[in-house]
Amino acid sequence: MIPTSEIVTERLRLRRPQPMDAELVFEHYARDPEVSRYLAWRPHVELAETRDYITSCIDAWHGTMNRPYLIDADGQQAIGVFDLRLRSGPGAVSFGYVLARAFWNRGYMTEALKAVVAQALAQHDVWRVWAFCDVENHASARVMEKAGMEYEGTLRRWAMHPNVDPIAPRDCRCYARVK
Ligand SMILES: CC(C)(COP(=O)(O)OP(=O)(O)OC[C@H]1O[C@@H](n2cnc3c(N)ncnc32)[C@H](O)[C@@H]1OP(=O)(O)O)[C@@H](O)C(=O)NCCC(=O)NCCS
Repeated sequence: MIPTSEIVTERLRLRRPQPMDAELVFEHYARDPEVSRYLAWRPHVELAETRDYITSCIDAWHGTMNRPYLIDADGQQAIGVFDLRLRSGPGAVSFGYVLARAFWNRGYMTEALKAVVAQALAQHDVWRVWAFCDVENHASARVMEKAGMEYEGTLRRWAMHPNVDPIAPRDCRCYARVK
């Protein structure tokens, strides 16, 4: 799959990252412990951590593994990230997403995911779009359901989410849409 450099929906623009996004991402959500609760990273304490992360996002666009899109919406830039993972199995793509808390529950991530799933499955070489979320991350599970993905089962002891358990991998719910 060769993803486009920009995905535009009714209310959102998913675009390539740029260095100036670091300050906005830090302010909007990277330091918010509620946002990273069920994620693989700990809340950022210093802006320098977010700068390193944005640099890795910019670099990723030169590689073949993933495409982290910054999300603009509601007249605001960099309110979240949609990370499209291109090598997640034979003919499969996966993803991760995060949104600043001030923008939750407006249907934004469902809108983004629907667009990405449609674009991915329209590619001749993509047969499966899938992702997982922590068993307690009900909002994320709901987003995947609303985007037309099906629950496939629970992957036990699947992923480290250190903010809820720093020692043991967490059980995660797996969702997919296939053609
Ligand atoms: C998960 C996340 C991206 C959802 O984004 P969003 O734009 O708020 O999602 P939407 O508005 O499209 O949909 C959210 C749905 O979850 C529901 N929801 C929210 N919190 C919930 C909770 N605690 N329990 C159950 N459902 C919940 C909402 O009611 C809504 O469903 P509805 O339309 O049927 O009412 C956002 O909450 C987030 O960034 N969380 C932190 C990062 C994260 O966990 N990312 C996912 C990792 S797998």
